[in-house]
Amino acid sequence: MSKPSIFVTRALPGDPTPRLREVADVEIWPGDEPPPHGELVRRAADADALLTMLTDPIDDAVLDAGKRLRIVAQMAVGYDNVDVAAATERGILVTNTPGVLTETTADLAFALLLAAARRIVEGDRLTRTGGWKSWHPSFLLGQDVHGATLGIVGLGQIGLAVARRARGFDMRILYHDRTRHPQAEAELGAEYVSLDRLLGESDFVSLHVPLASQTRHLIGQRELSLMKPSAVLVNAARGAVVDQQALCAALKERRIAAAGLDVAEIEPIPVDDPLLTLDNVVVTPHIGSASVATRARMAEMAVESVLQALRGELPSNCVNAEAFSRRKQA
Ligand code: GLV
Ligand code: GLV
Repeated sequence: MSKPSIFVTRALPGDPTPRLREVADVEIWPGDEPPPHGELVRRAADADALLTMLTDPIDDAVLDAGKRLRIVAQMAVGYDNVDVAAATERGILVTNTPGVLTETTADLAFALLLAAARRIVEGDRLTRTGGWKSWHPSFLLGQDVHGATLGIVGLGQIGLAVARRARGFDMRILYHDRTRHPQAEAELGAEYVSLDRLLGESDFVSLHVPLASQTRHLIGQRELSLMKPSAVLVNAARGAVVDQQALCAALKERRIAAAGLDVAEIEPIPVDDPLLTLDNVVVTPHIGSASVATRARMAEMAVESVLQALRGELPSNCVNAEAFSRRKQA
């Protein structure tokens, strides 16, 4: 029997691919940019496994081409780029990398929160361009983080990790989610509220929901209008959870104070996007999980999932276990 084939859509940090090469032929897309869609379709046609990034649309065309495909191992916690229902129908396993990036992503969300609140990036920019003329009692006044109210939308692992950080800043914690989390309520003093109440009462709103049809544009014009004029919005989840055009208008008209964004509706955000003309927004290029240690762990985890699938096991981080039973029956 010939070796199985694996296509990896980008070079991986810490190069864990030797483990794959022991059991399979491995091809790694050499570019810094994602493989074009046509290329992805062509590669899928010869692959038993794909190791993918959040930038790779794994749609019907890719899955149809992948006649031998057993697994799509996504190196990210979010997998909205993968048509999971279509994969399940074809008995193709989909895995992600939860857990290992929780604390790193929460660090980044908190960094954005602090940066937007205290106008860190704006201050840096002003300092470099001669804008620091003198100490002035009303120069660069921002919002206090300590003692403020933080509203967390989506109290999953990352939301919880943000809440734990907030405790150190003596923040009051509100949350909204599909279900209540009694343990977090007890341990963190987090209070469950409706989304509208959360928006109305929070000084900081941080989004930690996955992107799905129910969360697309969860924060739009109406929701932004419920927020305080002094409030700061943080999004380190997915760009499309927020209606970016509505956010841009709210920031421009100072209907909310600021935003810290690690994600955008279109990534990379075009350099001429009106959002980038605003001083009251801090933008980072989707680097939530981007620490040396965490990216290596994510790569390792995705590799492990591929190895499990190729051995005929159900990978530990499978998001569509139904696909496994389908394959078994086939
Ligand atoms: C990053 O955005 C991830 O989903 O891991
Ligand atoms: C600020 O630097 C102060 O001394 O108040």
